[in-house]
Amino acid sequence: MSTLPSSFPPFPEISPGEVWLVGAGPGDPSHLTLLALHALQRANYVLYDALVDARILDIVNRGAIVRFVGKRGGKPSQRQQDINSSLIALARAGHRVVRLKGGDPFVFGRGAEEVAALSEAGIPYRVVPGITSGLAAASLAGIPATTRDTNHAIILATGHLAVDDWSLDHWAALARTGQPVIFYMAIANLPEITAAFERGGLSSDTPVAIVQSASTPAERVVETTLNGAVEAVKGAGIEPPAIVIIGKIVALRSSLRSLALADVR
Ligand SMILES: C[S@@+](CC[C@H](N)C(=O)[O-])C[C@H]1O[C@@H](n2cnc3c(N)ncnc32)[C@H](O)[C@@H]1O
Repeated sequence: MSTLPSSFPPFPEISPGEVWLVGAGPGDPSHLTLLALHALQRANYVLYDALVDARILDIVNRGAIVRFVGKRGGKPSQRQQDINSSLIALARAGHRVVRLKGGDPFVFGRGAEEVAALSEAGIPYRVVPGITSGLAAASLAGIPATTRDTNHAIILATGHLAVDDWSLDHWAALARTGQPVIFYMAIANLPEITAAFERGGLSSDTPVAIVQSASTPAERVVETTLNGAVEAVKGAGIEPPAIVIIGKIVALRSSLRSLALADVR
């Protein structure tokens, strides 16, 4: 990275007793923000999630304690309440704490719950935004999230319901907006989601893209249609983490991709 000019505004510092929720972006360390990079080099305690790329952990200040608090290989994850308590205890012990979360801390990442617990405990905190994987996956696959001709909104949705109330049929409601949808955590419920989108009025040949492990060496993009998506995922052996993009914007990929540079990883 080239050196920053002397006019570059100074970074804020993590003081002992503070917790920073830092977005790690989709994976590739080059997608970290400058403030995230700074925080990782100044923290002395880092608690990280399962989807944080190992290459990012290599950037952490060598003297720091780095602790995994995510879900791995189907084993039970740490309870959110326990993570909140650890953050509070570490801050009270005078550590400079980074809570490192995949993508952006406030997009489908339970960051709000952690911040609420810190506030209640009187712990000073900062949120460092990260590039959310849904938008990164679309851009890296050559799919523009918006164009003037295709859509005036883009919906970020979860395919994993915290409240299992299927009666609301809210996925069909998303389809009825006519706007493209970028789904997180949608692989397990893909049959239900695609069926709901057809119920919501989308034609079975609506373009769909699935982007696995965006910005990592395991990145793969599968282009399919609404009624072909479930088979395409199975056939290609797509595994989470993956983003599912539904809508006309997916069809722009082929035309925009022709001169795109291959990513260097
Ligand atoms: C609990 S959510 C966290 C989202 C995160 N806070 C964000 O802003 O990207 C986890 C889901 O994000 C998506 N995800 C995260 N990293 C990804 C990546 N590199 N490629 C594709 N999907 C990813 C997957 O859908 C995964 O199941």
